[in-house]
Amino acid sequence: MELRNFKALNNLADTSDYVAMLEAFDTIPQLRELKEIARERGGIASGKSVLDIGCGFGLETLRLAEIAGPEGRVNGLDKSDAFIAEARRRAEAAGHPINYQIGDATSLPFEDSSFDCVRAERLLIYLKNFQSVIAEMKRVLKPGGHLALIEPDISTITINVTDRALLRKVIDYEIAHAVEQSWLPGPLNTTLQDLGYQDIECASRALIFRQDLGAAYFKSLGVHAEEAGAITEAENREWQQSIDRLREKGQIFATVGYFLFTATRP
Ligand SMILES: C[S@@+](CC[C@H](N)C(=O)[O-])C[C@H]1O[C@@H](n2cnc3c(N)ncnc32)[C@H](O)[C@@H]1O
Repeated sequence: MELRNFKALNNLADTSDYVAMLEAFDTIPQLRELKEIARERGGIASGKSVLDIGCGFGLETLRLAEIAGPEGRVNGLDKSDAFIAEARRRAEAAGHPINYQIGDATSLPFEDSSFDCVRAERLLIYLKNFQSVIAEMKRVLKPGGHLALIEPDISTITINVTDRALLRKVIDYEIAHAVEQSWLPGPLNTTLQDLGYQDIECASRALIFRQDLGAAYFKSLGVHAEEAGAITEAENREWQQSIDRLREKGQIFATVGYFLFTATRP
């Protein structure tokens, strides 16, 4: 199970692994709490115009459309045509007229001041110049409109493998290479301030991985580290076995910090 390279999605014959992984994450109670706070603070309500950027296959977009209702207007934009196709299929099955389109977050295909609410989730960590996307979000928000962003702090990932030296090697390799923005919350807060957003608020949760998801995710990190020569083959074997032993006893304890930033356009 790979969480890393969503940029490669269009090259995959099958996106079902990604869909399964995002659906598994969606069941984690701490993430559900953050999403609920994001809807409240993000101003999602009946009749609102809403944009979900990097919407994937529309897991949250569908919920936004339910709240916005027939008087509202919901748009979902993503770079992946495979995800947009799946999002359209799900919206049709649910009977929600969501406007999905393929596009790039760095250059939003919308007029200035088009939306009451703009949101994104697990998008900015993949982007080199995330600041320009935050500026684009401000451009398409109406004055007084609400922004809501949910992103992980990848630098906080950890698991209860007892060999701490090995743990640091594997985790440090992943933090340095997995995504473009592994230490996002601090720079994100600064960017919102620098761009003149108002009412900036932050909520956070430590997400606790379920046993299967934790095992699959953290075992994949050992493979990445070995492939890159950051750990030896023997060390990776030890890493895999440690996680398997924890998994057999149902004792995996693995976490990652997630942050919700909300703000308004003046
Ligand atoms: C981890 S997925 C999150 C999907 C969805 N927001 C969710 O939380 O279920 C990241 C998404 O960002 C999209 N993405 C990455 N770079 C993008 C860009 N520059 N413009 C638009 N979408 C992008 C990917 O195609 C992928 O669907």
